[in-house]
Amino acid sequence: MDEEIILGQADICKYMYGFVDSMTLRCVVELGIPDIIHSHGRPITLTEILNGIPNLSSSFDINYLQGIMTILVRRRVFAVHKFDPKDGTNLTEIRYGLTPSSKCLLKDSKFNLAPFVLLETHPWITDPWNYLGKCVQEGGSGFVKAHGSDVFKFGSDHPEFFKLFYDGMECSTKVLVQVVLDKYQQVFKDVKSIVDVGGGTGMMISEIVKNHPHIKGINFDLPHVVAEAPDYPGVEHVGGDMFVEIPQADAITMKGILHDWNDDACVKILENCKKAIPKNGKVIIIDCVLNPDGDDLFDDIKVVSDLGMRVHCSDGKERTEAEWEKLLKKGGFPRYKITHVVTVQSMIEAYPE
Ligand SMILES: C[S@@+](CC[C@H](N)C(=O)[O-])C[C@H]1O[C@@H](n2cnc3c(N)ncnc32)[C@H](O)[C@@H]1O
Repeated sequence: MDEEIILGQADICKYMYGFVDSMTLRCVVELGIPDIIHSHGRPITLTEILNGIPNLSSSFDINYLQGIMTILVRRRVFAVHKFDPKDGTNLTEIRYGLTPSSKCLLKDSKFNLAPFVLLETHPWITDPWNYLGKCVQEGGSGFVKAHGSDVFKFGSDHPEFFKLFYDGMECSTKVLVQVVLDKYQQVFKDVKSIVDVGGGTGMMISEIVKNHPHIKGINFDLPHVVAEAPDYPGVEHVGGDMFVEIPQADAITMKGILHDWNDDACVKILENCKKAIPKNGKVIIIDCVLNPDGDDLFDDIKVVSDLGMRVHCSDGKERTEAEWEKLLKKGGFPRYKITHVVTVQSMIEAYPE
């Protein structure tokens, strides 16, 4: 076989087994392994990891754990230590430590992504990917094909999915909102009231209000969603339908909303946003700006997210800057400014005049 074929085979095998990365990652989150290592304050042996795992039965299998850790060391989720830091001699048992990746999975980390991992790797979310071929042949959403109803209806009918979904959303939002609030204070300076459209259980608007107490916050989402939202100081929860009417405010935030819908639906939402804000108001959209040929840190994930929006929402998609410009113009927002926050999403400030 020539070298090209061998490289081709290696690539195909790598992609074929790509799901093993997701499953091993899910497993260490489920078992709390990053927290077990963290609780020792130093790299630890496999036996020490095992001893920290809850609910071990007498037939536990350390070989599984060994295999999982070996893969995740290769993926740089964990670090391996073979030498004694004191004298540089070989350790009798190798030890496993945290890396910047596994530090993102610690319960008490400000940037804990563990609930997001549990959401994205759950069979409720992964099963729809098995319908990709059917989606190509018939159109429609993989989520509906797998579960019989759309993602928002499924959430209202299945409390366990509802919790998984919003825990995952909240932790990914927390990471992003922290960056926006730290670096882009001026965005909220002259605003007295904000409605977060499709704000879920209200975490994002509560963080904005906490950092800018002069702002009155409204968390706006479907009635069954806001019914489950916790109380936050300075935040009013309002249930409704963004395709009908959006509560009035100086500004609107929308994170992860427009990418759920096709252009016609987005135009309707944007028109309702325009009716809800004054002429000098603005809409702050937090969503991906696709760059399919780009090689920035998050460009690859954005392309995956684009397909993911189709699989889970059917009409959903991520958009390039040119697509955003066209959509915003059609929805009544001729002027906009994009700020590339260092995460998957960017911030698009859109102005009605
Ligand atoms: C992908 S989630 C984003 C949640 C939140 N903004 C975040 O990023 O964490 C989309 C949200 O849109 C809400 N939604 C869907 N249809 C809606 C409608 N017609 N009116 C208001 N909210 C809606 C859903 O209930 C859900 O909370």
